[in-house]
Amino acid sequence: MATFTLPKNSTIGTGQTYKAEADATNVRSFKIYRWDPDTGDNPRMDTYEIDLDKCGPMVLDALIKIKNEVDTTLTFRRSCREGICGSCSMNIDGLNTLACLKPIEDVLGEIRINPLPHMPVVKDLVPDLSQIYAQLTSIQPWLKADTAPPPDSERLQSKEERAKLDGLWECILCFCCTTACPSYWWNGDRYLGPAVLLQAYRWIADSRDEYTGERLDQLQDPFRLYRCHTIMNCARTCPKGLNPAEAIGHIKTLLVERDR
Ligand code: SF4
Ligand code: SF4
Ligand code: FES
Repeated sequence: MATFTLPKNSTIGTGQTYKAEADATNVRSFKIYRWDPDTGDNPRMDTYEIDLDKCGPMVLDALIKIKNEVDTTLTFRRSCREGICGSCSMNIDGLNTLACLKPIEDVLGEIRINPLPHMPVVKDLVPDLSQIYAQLTSIQPWLKADTAPPPDSERLQSKEERAKLDGLWECILCFCCTTACPSYWWNGDRYLGPAVLLQAYRWIADSRDEYTGERLDQLQDPFRLYRCHTIMNCARTCPKGLNPAEAIGHIKTLLVERDR
């Protein structure tokens, strides 16, 4: 997919307002970031008045209603509608989260919706995630083992070994955490960021993986790992309640113990 960056020095203008029907009695305003690279225009915030009596309860329901009934040009990602695919991540009311898990009633007043921050924008609420996916690929997020699996069973783990993956396997790669991390904002070209580092630790912690040493070697770098300054935005924003900063801390501890 072609990618586009936000024009430098662009200002965000006031866009159009789409009024609710005259007889609507339960109206909320959604102020949504709009940018279409094909027009060359600066970004703007369009306002959509939605009758909540005719809309589902989540922010994603409102976005789908807008796209279906008001403005088909509005562009956003979504798939599962239940917090599993990670594709509807965006900034709602100042917080990175999943639109499908965010109840409209949790936001007071006008609901402001922006794309995930500090990322190039492809269009409207769609960020360009190419760099993050390349970084994810770089940590080789799959089981690596030279020993062949048992001929008649899967590679087994004890309950205790399996429990070490809790708090890691649940990550849905929505990147709310990475795009909330100030260290990633300023050093995203070299710092892997919380989501990718949590994935790295998920494989380091897996008793079936035989490449722990190589994985740690790859992370021992002043930028790839050590740009995390424990600011904790990542844990605060994760819509799945995970704690990437803790996973990063475990990697650092393993490196210290190994090099002692
Ligand atoms: S704790 Fe580390 S990864 Fe998390 S937001 Fe802070 S600097 Fe980023
Ligand atoms: S750790 Fe949480 S916020 Fe970060 S990518 Fe995974 S699910 Fe999303
Ligand atoms: S649509 Fe899949 S997580 Fe929201």
